[in-house]
Amino acid sequence: METLFIGQNAIFLPQAESTNSYAIELLKNVNLPEGTIVYTTNQTHGRGQRGNSWDTEPGLNLAISYILKPSFLNANKLFFLYIISALAVYDLMSELLGSSQYDIKIKWPNDILVNSKKIAGILNENSISNNQLQSCVCGIGLNINQTNFNETINAVSVKLISGHEHDLLKVIKLLNYHFEHYYLKLKSENYKWLREQYDSHFYKLNQIVNFSIHGIHKPFLVKGINEQGLLSLQDDSGINHDFDIKQIKWL
Ligand code: BTN
Repeated sequence: METLFIGQNAIFLPQAESTNSYAIELLKNVNLPEGTIVYTTNQTHGRGQRGNSWDTEPGLNLAISYILKPSFLNANKLFFLYIISALAVYDLMSELLGSSQYDIKIKWPNDILVNSKKIAGILNENSISNNQLQSCVCGIGLNINQTNFNETINAVSVKLISGHEHDLLKVIKLLNYHFEHYYLKLKSENYKWLREQYDSHFYKLNQIVNFSIHGIHKPFLVKGINEQGLLSLQDDSGINHDFDIKQIKWL
């Protein structure tokens, strides 16, 4: 499971508030090689989507940030970084759990679910200056060996499902391998293939689901993502609508 560049430069932090914040600060002062990872097993103020926090018990889980410099990527294709991050985590979970036994899904835009419970979350943060993409930090939080979760967050870990502990360093190496695989596909412009892979694991695809739009609850048929990475939904009159993460919430 060797990689060419992802994880070749690895910064382990015994403790960090947020690996994403650390990576973003570091990038302001240091010219880090592409593929550098910043990781910890003790993240104290992990950040999630929509200003949420990402909380984990010390020593049991992984918080990892991948530093990328995808100068080849057009600004309108930035959501592909979510696609490759999600696919890498999907493959990791399939490998750790044995995919046929469990229902592993990618819930737009950033959650990986196993049997409808959250096992991983993704927060990508891009730095753009003078209209140029400078760097991207792909942050991934993985629930590996934690067994107690607050019931309100509907989370699960690899240990809770597989019944045994996993070596966190081996997990990182596996994730690096899958991450690089998909990043190279992106670099060689395999957009259609990447979308097909993503769609094939899409949570609730072609099912009717209740969503909250600005506080109003409404059922929609889930159609997948559009060309910009927005969630495409069909209403009960057959009209398609595209939503970004700020506009809509799964119920
Ligand atoms: C979410 O589910 O809303 C996304 C959670 C992302 C958590 C990861 S852990 C590594 C990286 N550092 C952070 O502060 N957040 C991301």
